[in-house]
Amino acid sequence: MADFRQYAPATERNRQPILEVLQQVLPPSSTVLEIASGTGEHITFFAPRLGHLQWLPTERQALLRESIQAWGEALPAANLLLPALDLDVSDRPWPVETDALPEPITAIININMIHISAWEMCGHLMAGAERILPAGGVLYLYGPFKREGQHTAPSNETFDQMLRDQNPDWGVRDLEEVEAIAQTHGLQLEKMLPMPANNFSVVFRRG
Ligand SMILES: C[S@@+](CC[C@H](N)C(=O)[O-])C[C@H]1O[C@@H](n2cnc3c(N)ncnc32)[C@H](O)[C@@H]1O
Repeated sequence: MADFRQYAPATERNRQPILEVLQQVLPPSSTVLEIASGTGEHITFFAPRLGHLQWLPTERQALLRESIQAWGEALPAANLLLPALDLDVSDRPWPVETDALPEPITAIININMIHISAWEMCGHLMAGAERILPAGGVLYLYGPFKREGQHTAPSNETFDQMLRDQNPDWGVRDLEEVEAIAQTHGLQLEKMLPMPANNFSVVFRRG
C-alpha cells in the first residue's frame, strides 16, 4: 500500500523544544490552527501531547496535505482535526473564517514559513491572525530571525544567502520588522525565546 508520509528531518530535532514552549504559552482550551503544517510531523506530535486542545492542520500544497493525512492515520489522535485544510495565507477569507469548527480558534502556530515565502506573506499571516484571534489569543512563530538587521549566528547568514539564491523573495526576517507589522494588526510581542540551532520561538498576543 502506498505510504504518503513525507519526512522533514529538522522536525525530529525541533519538535520537543517547540512542544515545551507551546506547553507554556498556549491557552488552556479550544482549537490551535497550524498554518503551513508541511509534512504533518509537528502537529501529529503535538496533538497527543497537548490533548486538552483541538489541533487543526492547514497546508497549501496538495502532496503535503496527503502527507498530513497519512501521518494522522499512522498516529491517530481524537483531537487532530483531519483532513488538513487548503490554506494559503494570502487567501481572503481563510477557510476557517467560513467553516464551522467544534471549538473556536484561540491560537495559531506557524513554524518555518515566513523566511521561505515572500515578505508580504508575513503581513498576510498577521492580518489573518488579527481577523481570527480573540483578545488574548496567541500567534506563535518559530524559525531563524535577525535582530536589528544583524544575523544572530554565522550559520544563519549562510542559510539566508542559500535561501536568497534559491528564491530572491525568501530570506531570514528581522524580528523588529516582523514585530512592527504585528503591531499594525493588534498583536503585541510577548516573548522571544532562543531555541536550539540558532532558531527562536516568538510569541505574539492579540490585544
Ligand atoms: C519549510 S516548510 C515548513 C513546513 C513545516 N511547518 C515544518 O516546519 O516542517 C515551508 C512551508 O510554508 C508553506 N508556505 C509557503 N508559502 C505559504 C503561503 N503563502 N501560505 C501558506 N503556507 C505557505 C509551504 O507550503 C510549506 O509547508
